[in-house]
Amino acid sequence: MERLDKILCDSGLGTRSQVKAILKAGRVTVDGAVERDNGRKVDLAQQRVCCNGEPVGGLRRVVLMLNKPAGYVTARTDARDRTVMELLPPQYAAMDVNPVGRLDKDTEGLLLFTNDGDLLHRLISPKKQVPKVYYARHEGTATGEDTAAFAKGLVLRDGTQCLSAVLEPLGPGESLITVCEGKYHQVRRMMASRAMTVTYLERRREGTLALGDLPRGQTRELTEGEILTLEMAGR
Ligand code: URA
Repeated sequence: MERLDKILCDSGLGTRSQVKAILKAGRVTVDGAVERDNGRKVDLAQQRVCCNGEPVGGLRRVVLMLNKPAGYVTARTDARDRTVMELLPPQYAAMDVNPVGRLDKDTEGLLLFTNDGDLLHRLISPKKQVPKVYYARHEGTATGEDTAAFAKGLVLRDGTQCLSAVLEPLGPGESLITVCEGKYHQVRRMMASRAMTVTYLERRREGTLALGDLPRGQTRELTEGEILTLEMAGR
């Protein structure tokens, strides 16, 4: 048995207060009878809930892409900093989505969220070497020797061994970096090990997904096709 307002939120119909208004307006029925009580307990296995005549069925799986701006930490809550959760439209926060992996506070770009726990764990598992592409501005200019060192597998300043990665110099102080793992501050530490301090970092791609023209600070839902492709990558 679950509260009616939770069932409606989980289905993506809105926040608790939006759902309350939908109920108040008489748009929700339980087994055909209008129900206005948001605290009504319902058993979805036995009872049929509809909104505007359309069946509402449990937790809707959602995967979101955010173009993260600098200045937000990847956490659900934080005592000091603003969190990426504050950037999500409120109906998604109500659907209990979580970030997939993390970006540093100052890193911008592609960050995924989902309320599908299995998909989340498959995607962040270290066994899954999903390639992630970053654009970096940095001090110094990358050389062929740096590219070769990345390809061989860098050893970071603290002795950590990295997998082979791709460093593509774009011009003075600008590079694209492709990595298949997600160590703490990975790109910044890789560049530092070659004496290049990163001054700006943006994630542009994750597997088959690209940030595209999604404006900074905005979110969009992935299509079913995009989710299927992601699931294949996470297997
Ligand atoms: N590597 C970093 O150093 N920071 C990020 O946010 C992501 C990858």
